[in-house]
Amino acid sequence: MSAISAASPLRLPESPATIVTGQMSKTTDFGFERVPPEEKARRVRGVFESVAAKYDLMNDLMSAGLHRAWKRFAVETSGVRRGSAVLDVAGGTADLTRLFADRVGPSGRVILTDITAAMLAAGRDRMLDEGRLVPAVQCNAEALPFPARSFDCVCIGFGLRNVTRKDFALAEMRRVLRPGGVALILEFSKVAEPFRAAYDWYSFNVLPRLGKLVADDEASYRYLAESIRMHPDQAALKEMMENAGFERVEWFDLMAGIVALHRGYVL
Ligand SMILES: C[S@@+](CC[C@H](N)C(=O)[O-])C[C@H]1O[C@@H](n2cnc3c(N)ncnc32)[C@H](O)[C@@H]1O
Repeated sequence: MSAISAASPLRLPESPATIVTGQMSKTTDFGFERVPPEEKARRVRGVFESVAAKYDLMNDLMSAGLHRAWKRFAVETSGVRRGSAVLDVAGGTADLTRLFADRVGPSGRVILTDITAAMLAAGRDRMLDEGRLVPAVQCNAEALPFPARSFDCVCIGFGLRNVTRKDFALAEMRRVLRPGGVALILEFSKVAEPFRAAYDWYSFNVLPRLGKLVADDEASYRYLAESIRMHPDQAALKEMMENAGFERVEWFDLMAGIVALHRGYVL
């Protein structure tokens, strides 16, 4: 894929919904490519195995540290209190887990989960280095190994975009929540029109080069830019959450929609 400049408008490939055969989609998106669903899961794991060691540094560089504020906003918007039980899905290097652990205190419980061993190990080690013991469970968001109605809050931060069957993941998030529980989805989203060209230029020119320079991995950061463009926009994700059974679903745009926090409840 060649670099895309602000001058040449970004041409997205066909949307996932357009390539459907019969009841089942035979292919899914991996960035701008179409691949069989099982291939996507394998390649996503490959991306995160590759970036794990430099993941936190790259996050700070790419967002100028802003991802920390977005995550704090998510935790503050959760309504989670001391003593609550929280599940961090696709929790990676444990940024959200740490913030939630501070919030729920010693009487609460936070579980870190992720599908990629290297990301989960980085998160678990970071917590241990800080003297905090948090359970870390390797699992797929599409099949959470927890009983129904176990948590007061389930969050997924910058993870849903990478999940092959997002409807399965949303159904699982709903299943493990107790009545009154809250689901939070923090994810890159659709940027407001005036900023789109500049954001496209940054995403397709700066990010892959930064990935090459810092992590020696251009392809993973090109996937990041592409996967953001293929992710459902704010309204579509709200509808998906409602279809999964969440109620009072709303979203909060951050930085003109570069990121959106979706919140929904099980009532
Ligand atoms: C961009 S990182 C986000 C990590 C962390 N939540 C954060 O906000 O910094 C995305 C994470 O999603 C994980 N992931 C991708 N597909 C997944 C799946 N199907 N189930 C669980 N985790 C998944 C990856 O391994 C990776 O750690």
